[in-house]
Amino acid sequence: MPKIKVRSPAKVNLYLKVIGKRPDGYHELESIFQTISLSDELEISEFRQGISIKTDYPGLSTGKNNLVYRAVDLVKREYGIKQGVRISLAKHIPIGAGLGGGSSNAAATLIGLNRLWKLGLTRSDLAIQAAKIGSDAPFFIYGGTALVKGRGEIVFPLDVKGDLHYILFFSGFPVPTKRIYQHLKLALMKSTDNVSDIIHCLCAGDIRQTVRLMQNDLEPVALKLYPELGKAWRLFKWITGHRAMVSGSGSTIFRLCSSAKEMVELTKKLQRNGVTKQQIANVSFAHPDNH
Ligand code: C5P
Repeated sequence: MPKIKVRSPAKVNLYLKVIGKRPDGYHELESIFQTISLSDELEISEFRQGISIKTDYPGLSTGKNNLVYRAVDLVKREYGIKQGVRISLAKHIPIGAGLGGGSSNAAATLIGLNRLWKLGLTRSDLAIQAAKIGSDAPFFIYGGTALVKGRGEIVFPLDVKGDLHYILFFSGFPVPTKRIYQHLKLALMKSTDNVSDIIHCLCAGDIRQTVRLMQNDLEPVALKLYPELGKAWRLFKWITGHRAMVSGSGSTIFRLCSSAKEMVELTKKLQRNGVTKQQIANVSFAHPDNH
């Protein structure tokens, strides 16, 4: 029985600007997404019938609420597939952490099923299906670095080369994305629109300038609604002397470092000041997979 393995990476948002509220209740975005080396793994194989999902993540539903389940269900319905499927999901990406784990798992499922059932779907076909599951899911069909617009369904891949090094700082609790968007006060937002500047710096490999131009409109909302997150954010600045960013709607805080050496030094500094190994991870930019 053939088994298909698919890597399902996490993402960080280097830039996230909310343009406005849409008639469908979602928000219009302009964001830069990038996949990182922290990832889950899916193993997909055929099954007599039905959808069977197993995961090692305690408490994660494996039924209809699971985005992997929803991705399988969608493909079976859209393409009239009678065959069942068994998926085992090894989770390393924390849930509710602003790292896109669920959306990435859904996209990886679509990519895997396209291979398993030889559906012949192109990336844009897959991205259209992914958008039905979650706003961040179309990006994960492409991976790498991308300018993402609309609700998340418009993905422009960016040609970013070289290595980028990050420190992730896990706050340890989930933040529901919906709650953050609900508390966003569009009229009070003061962020600047400098997406083309940051794209230019990122593509030119100017990390220092990229860091200076990074911004996230969801960050002030998340820091205010979750005092623990604000505390972690201030702690990071106090210990390292550098500003960190909230990824997406939180709860992960991250820092783009100017080199691997700086990443190691800042990590040691954090650990000397009581931050545990479980609270941080050193990751790098994961270049797009070919699939
Ligand atoms: O699409 P997804 O289910 O991942 O989005 C979670 C929640 O985040 C939505 O229910 C919506 O409240 C909010 N959201 C939004 N605008 C976006 C993406 C998400 O308002 N572009």
